[in-house]
Amino acid sequence: MGLSGPLDAETLLRHTRQGPRYTSYPTAPLWRTDFPEAGFHEGLARLSGPAAVYVHVPFCREQCSFCGCNMVVAGRREPGQRYLAALERQLRSLPLPADQIDVQRIHLGGGTPTWLSPDELRALFSMLDRRFRRSPGCEVSVEADPEVTSDAHLEALAALGVTRMSFGVQSFDDTVLRAVDRPQQRERVGALLQRARSLGMGSLNIDLMYGLPHQTAPRWRETLDETLRLRPDRLAIFGYAHLPWLKPHMKRIEAAALPGPLERAELFLAAHAALLDAGYQAVGMDHFALPDDDLAVAQRAGALHRNFMGYTTHRDQQLIGLGMSSISELGDRYVQQKSKLSHWWKAVEADGPVVEKGVMLTPDDLLHREVIYAVMCNFEISAAALVERHQVDLWSYFSDARPALEALAAEGLVELDATGLRVPPRARLLVRNVAMCFDPSLRGAAPSGPRFSSTV
Ligand SMILES: C[S@@+](CC[C@H](N)C(=O)[O-])C[C@H]1O[C@@H](n2cnc3c(N)ncnc32)[C@H](O)[C@@H]1O
Ligand code: SF4
Repeated sequence: MGLSGPLDAETLLRHTRQGPRYTSYPTAPLWRTDFPEAGFHEGLARLSGPAAVYVHVPFCREQCSFCGCNMVVAGRREPGQRYLAALERQLRSLPLPADQIDVQRIHLGGGTPTWLSPDELRALFSMLDRRFRRSPGCEVSVEADPEVTSDAHLEALAALGVTRMSFGVQSFDDTVLRAVDRPQQRERVGALLQRARSLGMGSLNIDLMYGLPHQTAPRWRETLDETLRLRPDRLAIFGYAHLPWLKPHMKRIEAAALPGPLERAELFLAAHAALLDAGYQAVGMDHFALPDDDLAVAQRAGALHRNFMGYTTHRDQQLIGLGMSSISELGDRYVQQKSKLSHWWKAVEADGPVVEKGVMLTPDDLLHREVIYAVMCNFEISAAALVERHQVDLWSYFSDARPALEALAAEGLVELDATGLRVPPRARLLVRNVAMCFDPSLRGAAPSGPRFSSTV
């Protein structure tokens, strides 16, 4: 491969560093399990300005064998009622500012929020609306598994002001779906998208996954074609992170049936090429959007940002996390609530401590986060902007990152000069590798070994 021209699978593979899938800063080593509850409360009490709210709904009908999310299998409906009651109690007991809080975004994630019934979703939104005031243009989004989502769910959600639905589809390939224990009727997905559109939900997302067992290039292409026929406004293309030592249910997946590293790289490149051909714009790392979508517009303007929920158009937005395992981002601190349902329930029902871990960012951490997100969102760092915002000289401050960056620059994967850093279009699939050069918590860590998932 030369220094120009599209990236080929072998280059992608050569740069696929073994490491935790790099999506957010701060990474695991900075989090502390002795983070004080008072630190969470202090962050909440100091909230000012418009915020975002994330509510975690952990329940699912069954556990897909690839699932890496914080979820709980629940066949009966009782846990839903108990969970909603606990959320309401949490909303009353957390020391949030007394007045209704202005919010620009509400997101229900999971698990599967549409595991809740339409009535339960109405109850959830009514408790949120008592505490939070939606700003004009507030984005309200919900994750959904097509198999448990009915037309009645969509009708209820549209009436509740939901503007964006994200459907987990993963694959249209029956062989793959069988191998991951995810029964799914393909017609249902198209019917749901159509119904959501007819109800005026303006932005629809589909999640697909590559690297799943028995996936082959031709059948992956069929999944991509079928997805493109539905023309979702956004697409997320996630690489399956196989971590059976952390998630024992993944042992149900036969390792020999998984595509190898080169095949994985090829599957990802095929998706990238197909989506760009179909008129989508690559947004950040693994997201794609139609050119008039907010995220695509923000990225072209260099105004894309990132938080633990993913990409956003709002800079420095504070995030209030509610529910089991939710993460809050409150100025200089991140806090995660207990990630085991029984522990979280017990804590909330006794008005006890809910914090599982947290991290307090120093001014140095905040600067690292800023440059890492600038790379991941906008594919560039402006040295002048860093001087203007923080009176910091990019290359003196981040001199530790320079050797690793120079090695990438020698292959044309990044451009470095006195004005800053740019990731050229052909190297954007490797933007994680560029961002990781700036992360001091990864430096010196053994970059290989079976305990890590891959970056592509
Ligand atoms: C929290 S799940 C919610 C989606 C919904 N429960 C469903 O499955 O339809 C969000 C997305 O994470 C992705 N995901 C889940 N497990 C993953 C794994 N092990 N590696 C990579 N992506 C994964 C899937 O694409 C999934 O749609
Ligand atoms: S439905 Fe979604 S959250 Fe639930 S197990 Fe499957 S992938 Fe995980």
